[in-house]
Amino acid sequence: MSICYINGSFQTKFDAMVSIQDRGFNFSDGVYEVMYFSGTNVINFQKHLKRLNKSLENLKIKYPFNNSKSLELIIKKLIKLNNQKEGYLYLQITRGNAIRNHLFPKLAVPNLIIFTFLANLDKKSVLGGVSIGLTDDKRWSRCDIKSISLLPNVLEKQQAFEKGFYESWQIRNNYITEGSTSNAFIVTKKNEIQTHPTNNFILGGVTRDSVLEIAKKLSFKVKEKAFSITDLKLCKEAFLTSTTVRILPVVKIEKKNVYNGKPGLITKTLMSKYDDFIKSQIND
Ligand code: PDD
Repeated sequence: MSICYINGSFQTKFDAMVSIQDRGFNFSDGVYEVMYFSGTNVINFQKHLKRLNKSLENLKIKYPFNNSKSLELIIKKLIKLNNQKEGYLYLQITRGNAIRNHLFPKLAVPNLIIFTFLANLDKKSVLGGVSIGLTDDKRWSRCDIKSISLLPNVLEKQQAFEKGFYESWQIRNNYITEGSTSNAFIVTKKNEIQTHPTNNFILGGVTRDSVLEIAKKLSFKVKEKAFSITDLKLCKEAFLTSTTVRILPVVKIEKKNVYNGKPGLITKTLMSKYDDFIKSQIND
């Protein structure tokens, strides 16, 4: 039976309940993180924590712990209780329970839930790459907040799936922002790794951040500048990043091959170095 953490106690997922007056349930008034763990090691934990704090601060939701150590201890205990060698953690914090009113409640205490889950990473896609579509970015202009309000992302992901794509990359004013569940990258003909800069139009991905750090260490040229649809058509390689898929080569865009339709050399190098980087954070 899988165990989750909810507001101070460990319960089976079946028993855990939140109120129908939870602001997350009524207004999507909350934030979340998805993290990867192996053993009791949470990969990129400090980066996830930093982003969680930023999201909470932006929504003016109280941080529900005394310090980051308390969260770390809860997570380690949860992983042990679930007896899972590796997997993902979903953490959600909402503003709390209150009578439905758009205004912030004065007395609400944030609701915190954490559970573990498995994701079946399709090995064929990882090695052979995926095809993606293109769509207008219909989201709000605070995509940097990891808010649980994900309806545009859900609708885009479903529509892409129905067209046979892994997901769609979103376009704002002729420039690609990011995928509906990942950050988007190209490698230009000059071998520059290019991705949208971190601002309010994308989620600053933890994987994106680590991949750029690795790329710089390997002396690849990195350009944090939005790329256009034309840049995309002319690129040599493309890939996407997220905690759940790490680095996924993109080999087709709207059914047209990216370059020769095969994962490129720079993408493959980064995939292998990123795997090493994850392994370097595992010590049990
Ligand atoms: N999503 N951009 C969007 C819109 C995302 O939803 C995600 C990840 C990312 C990549 O962020 P990171 O590298 O920190 O995982 C970028 C998670 C995995 C999800 O919603 O399940």
